[in-house]
Amino acid sequence: MEGYRFILDGLCLSLCVWFVGCHPDLRELISKRGRNKEGKIRLVGGRTEYQGRLEVFHDGRWGTVCDDNFDRFSARVVCRQLGHSGGKVTEFASGMYGPGEGPTWMDNVSCEGGETRLVDCNFPGWEIEDCSHFEDVGIKCDRVEEGKLRLTGGATPLQGRLEIVHDERWGSVCDDGWTQVNSRVVCSQLGYSGGTVYEASDGSGTGPIWMDDVACRGDEDSLMDCNFPGWKLEDCSHFEDLMIACDPLEEGTVRLVSGQNEQEGRVEIVHNGKWGTICDDDFDENDAQVVCRQLGYSGGSVAREAAFGRGKGPIWMDQVTCSGNEQRLTECEYPGWRQEDCSHWEDVGVVCIPVLTVPEEEEDRNEVESNNSPI
Ligand SMILES: *[C@@H]1O[C@H](CO)[C@@H](O)[C@H](O)[C@H]1NC(C)=O
Repeated sequence: MEGYRFILDGLCLSLCVWFVGCHPDLRELISKRGRNKEGKIRLVGGRTEYQGRLEVFHDGRWGTVCDDNFDRFSARVVCRQLGHSGGKVTEFASGMYGPGEGPTWMDNVSCEGGETRLVDCNFPGWEIEDCSHFEDVGIKCDRVEEGKLRLTGGATPLQGRLEIVHDERWGSVCDDGWTQVNSRVVCSQLGYSGGTVYEASDGSGTGPIWMDDVACRGDEDSLMDCNFPGWKLEDCSHFEDLMIACDPLEEGTVRLVSGQNEQEGRVEIVHNGKWGTICDDDFDENDAQVVCRQLGYSGGSVAREAAFGRGKGPIWMDQVTCSGNEQRLTECEYPGWRQEDCSHWEDVGVVCIPVLTVPEEEEDRNEVESNNSPI
């Protein structure tokens, strides 16, 4: 009996060893996990997530990168890969962030700037280096997004002195040559509507005057995409700082985002002054019709499962049920704002049908005919 058990135990043990060591599926799974992390990067030892000693994951472990020949183009690739903007090489990094441990994985890294990952850049090869950990490269990414806007010093958050970020610093915008179209671009970038200039500045602005003689076409998503002579090219004083007032977004306003044309896109709706998305659960053709009609189209159809990409921010509506005759989406039935159990993978979109317009010629002829007809 005992012997039998001994054999059974042995068999079981060898089976287990075979399963872990040799089972092809499991082996693949284990190596896949390591491979998924391959080429990942992180910043270590900084006060914030935006800076630190650069480390890269290779061959199952984290290692450092030598600062020899590491320039700002490579630094920008690092920051972009991490989802930040900007990118500078920190001087005396090992003093600031501490020297790293383990292998120095990369040396003489040379990025062109367009790469999406650090490992796509040129370097002589893994662990081909002549460095010590005192040469570990440190990187500092931008905390504030280039081109970001704000209105400061106003009576409400919707008005104030216009400020824009360049080179990580807030600065003002000069009112020379400013147009109504520019104001609209500013307010829509800030997530509001409208846009008017009000009263002269009191000159209390500080910092750089970043922009002057700005000329927008009107379809720009960001003020820095408009025409202007260049950052800090100005002949202004802070008395000419722009003061802008925007209007709040109207409750229940809808828009279509990220479509190929303006008739289609992810449906977004305003609640409490903020844009949010709508979940596709139970969203049918009737609901799509209402959205399209609210936007001035004659009808439309539904596009599910984030067909136009995933939105950000709140998912305002779920289980929307329209009869199809409503003028606005908010007149339809739904459990309540933010009553949802969805993710942005379920953001609904619509494809609208434009209103058929009678060609102008025909209209003219009708007019002539009716003028000629006896009364
Ligand atoms: C890095 O480049 C320098 C020349 O800029 C060279 O002297 C050095 O040997 C290179 N290091 C490695 C490890 O290739």
